[in-house]
Amino acid sequence: MSISTLYLSSFRNHKNKEFDFCKGVTVFWGDNGSGKTSVLEAIHTLSIGKSFRTHRQKTLIRNGDKRFVLKGTFFSGGRSDTVAAQYDLVSGQKIKLNGKLISNRKELIGKNSVVVLSPEEQSITKGGPENRRQFFDKVFCVTDTTYLDTLQKYGRVIKQRNATIQGINEGKTSLREIESWNEQLSQVGALLWAKRAEFMRGFSLSLQWLLKKNKEPLEIDLLYIDKKLGPSGYGEELKKTQEKDIRLGRTTFGPHRDEMGIQWQGKNLRNHGSQGEHKLCLVFLKLAEAVYIKEKTGRRPILLLDDLFAKLDLERNRGLVTLFHIMDREWEDTTQTIITTTDMVNLENSGMLLGHKEVKTHHLERKCST
Ligand SMILES: Nc1ncnc2c1ncn2[C@@H]1O[C@H](COP(=O)(O)OP(=O)(O)OP(=O)(O)O)[C@@H](O)[C@H]1O
Ligand SMILES: [Mg+2]
Repeated sequence: MSISTLYLSSFRNHKNKEFDFCKGVTVFWGDNGSGKTSVLEAIHTLSIGKSFRTHRQKTLIRNGDKRFVLKGTFFSGGRSDTVAAQYDLVSGQKIKLNGKLISNRKELIGKNSVVVLSPEEQSITKGGPENRRQFFDKVFCVTDTTYLDTLQKYGRVIKQRNATIQGINEGKTSLREIESWNEQLSQVGALLWAKRAEFMRGFSLSLQWLLKKNKEPLEIDLLYIDKKLGPSGYGEELKKTQEKDIRLGRTTFGPHRDEMGIQWQGKNLRNHGSQGEHKLCLVFLKLAEAVYIKEKTGRRPILLLDDLFAKLDLERNRGLVTLFHIMDREWEDTTQTIITTTDMVNLENSGMLLGHKEVKTHHLERKCST
C-alpha cells in the first residue's frame, strides 16, 4: 500500500498544503511545532477516519477556522483510491471514497492500512490495560471486520446490561431483566474472547518472527490468558459476579477487563522498563503490527514513523534500520515509509535513508502557517 499525494486545508497548524510521496522513504523535517506529526495524523485520518492523537475531531480544525479538509490518493493491490475527509463545526464529519459519500467509517477499514509509531502512543506500553486493549483491538479490527462487529456488539450489550443494573439499583427495573442481557452477553463475550485469544496467538507469532530477525537478542513476550470459556461457562461466571455487579453498578466480568501484558527480558515492562526500553518495545509492537497485517491481508501497510530515533541509542537505531532492511528483503519490496524528524543529520547517521532508490524530503517551517 502507498500514498502518492496529500492535501491539507485548515488541519492543525496547516492552512493549505500539498505534499507528494515516493514509494521509498519520505521525510518531513523541521523544528518542534512545525506540523510534522500533524501530517502523519492527516494520513491516519484518511486511512481509518480518525486521528491517533484525539477522539475530538474539533481539535483538528485549525484555530479560528470552521472546517478542515483532507484529500489523499492511495495505491493498493493495483487499485487507486481517493479519500477525502472533512469535518465541519456545523455538519460534522463527511468522508468520500472515490467521490462517493460513505455512511460508516467501517467502509474505509482495511483498505489503505497504516501503522503509526509515535511518541504520542507510548501509553500502549506505559498506560493501563485499557490502552493495550485499544491497541490490539484496533489491529484486529483492521484485519478482520467480523472482529469489529463482535467488538461493537459486545460494547452495546455491556452498555445495556449496565443500564439495567442502574435501573435495578434505582428500583425502576426488576431483577429478572438482567437475565436476558446475561444470555446475550454470554454469547457475544465468549465469541469475542475466542477471537481475541486466536488473534493474540497470531500477533505473538509475528512479534517472535521479527525478534528472531533482530541482530540483538531481545526477549519481548505478550502475556495473555486464553479464557477457554464457551457461552454456558461464561453465563455461569456472570451469575457468580451478578451480586457484586449490582453492588458496584457495572459489569465486572468479561473481555472489557482483559489485561494484555508485555514482558521485557522476563519482567513486566510497565513496572520495570526504562524510557529507552519502553520505546524499543513500542517499536517492536508496531513493527509486529505491520508484519501481522501483511500476514493477514497479504498487503504491506504504510509505515508512519514519528520521531523514531529520538531516545534510542545509536547502536539500537542502527539495529532497527537493519531490521527495516531485512523486512524489505523478506517481503521482496520496499515498504513505503514516512518519517518525521527534527534532526536530519541524526536521521542520515542512522543509515535509514541508505539503500533506498527513492527518498523525498519536505521541510516544514514552524512560523509558516500557509
Ligand atoms: N487546531 C489547531 N490549530 C492550530 N494549531 C494547532 C492546532 N492543534 C495543534 N496546533 C499546533 O500545531 C503545531 C504543530 O503540531 P505538531 O504536533 O504537528 O508539531 P511537530 O512538528 O510534530 O512538533 P514536535 O517536533 O514537537 O513533535 C503545534 O505548534 C501545535 O501547538
Ligand atoms: Mg511531533
